[in-house]
Amino acid sequence: MNQEKLEAKVRELFERQGFKVKKEGNRLTASNGQKIVLKAFSSDKYSTEEVKASVESGEKVFVDEGLEEIESSVDNDVSILHEESGDEPDYETPSYEVIGDIAVINDLASVDREEAVEGILQHQNVKAILLKKEGLSGEFRVGDYEKLYGTETETIHKEFGYRFKVDPTEVYFSERFGTERKRVADQVEEGEKVLVMFAGVGPFAILCSEKAEKVIAVEKNPAGAEYLKKNIELNKADKVEGIEGDVKEVVPELGEFDRIIMPLPESADQFLGLAVDHTSNNGVIHYYRFREEGNQEELEEEIEAETSRRSLDYEIIDVVECGERGPSSTRVCIDFQVTKDT
Ligand SMILES: C[S@@+](CC[C@H](N)C(=O)[O-])C[C@H]1O[C@@H](n2cnc3c(N)ncnc32)[C@H](O)[C@@H]1O
Repeated sequence: MNQEKLEAKVRELFERQGFKVKKEGNRLTASNGQKIVLKAFSSDKYSTEEVKASVESGEKVFVDEGLEEIESSVDNDVSILHEESGDEPDYETPSYEVIGDIAVINDLASVDREEAVEGILQHQNVKAILLKKEGLSGEFRVGDYEKLYGTETETIHKEFGYRFKVDPTEVYFSERFGTERKRVADQVEEGEKVLVMFAGVGPFAILCSEKAEKVIAVEKNPAGAEYLKKNIELNKADKVEGIEGDVKEVVPELGEFDRIIMPLPESADQFLGLAVDHTSNNGVIHYYRFREEGNQEELEEEIEAETSRRSLDYEIIDVVECGERGPSSTRVCIDFQVTKDT
């Protein structure tokens, strides 16, 4: 397949999933509340070695079948797009995400079940297709799924050179926040002590452990905590300690941290005081919340309330949009620094 055709296929794949796609230089960017960089390499123009460098730097890479042998020689996910035979019908596909080799349909919209399965199989080499019947619910944020195709729901998802074993029917995981996790992990400095509250299967914790001296990851869902421990082993992330338990019970027993990550946007406010208590002087908190129309000020007031109650100062470093929950609800991360020596 030539470069132009491959790029057109990548574009179509993401537009079908509800992303806005733009060409910027030699890359495409897909935006849907957050920006994902996509790199396409056709076998008529690029060699395996040239593609490897891009894959190893963690970029989302697409190749045609002429470069498919690259998949076995790298640790990151590479998507291989195939030329259609020309006589296959063009099936409609709903919005979905791919976790390892499992496709998860978030909203079937008006697409027929069988057509959705055929459409996804036309574009993705997956062993199972799950349909999210209802949004994420309950304390553990796990969806209720119907199996539309295949039976096995455990998979290994590759992200930025790491591997995460996960069963999305048992524990929360979304590949869509990979770039956001990387954004946070990139801020970690050598020697930091990091706490990941609400750790899930460990993607934040394991990414952060590259530079941190120590990472504590706390997860309450027993299935999630089990995967967290398996993933620490799988990635030989010896600096990460996974703890099964409730943040409210575990964290009071811990000391202070240079960085605290709070990826539970529905109710992170209930844990904010605890995070402030366990942040070191000049420590940074990554506070995830849902911003509904115009409530940015209220979110900042939550920070103001918890710091002023303790007579502490804080400074907002950044407010980053990282995903949409609905037409008027955006997932945001407020990065702020706490000063304790005043
Ligand atoms: C939105 S998920 C984020 C998971 C992970 N950080 C990621 O990015 O994939 C939130 C996680 O917090 C866990 N959780 C919810 N309440 C908790 C609590 N009180 N203590 C510890 N974990 C909790 C849930 O089980 C879920 O796995």
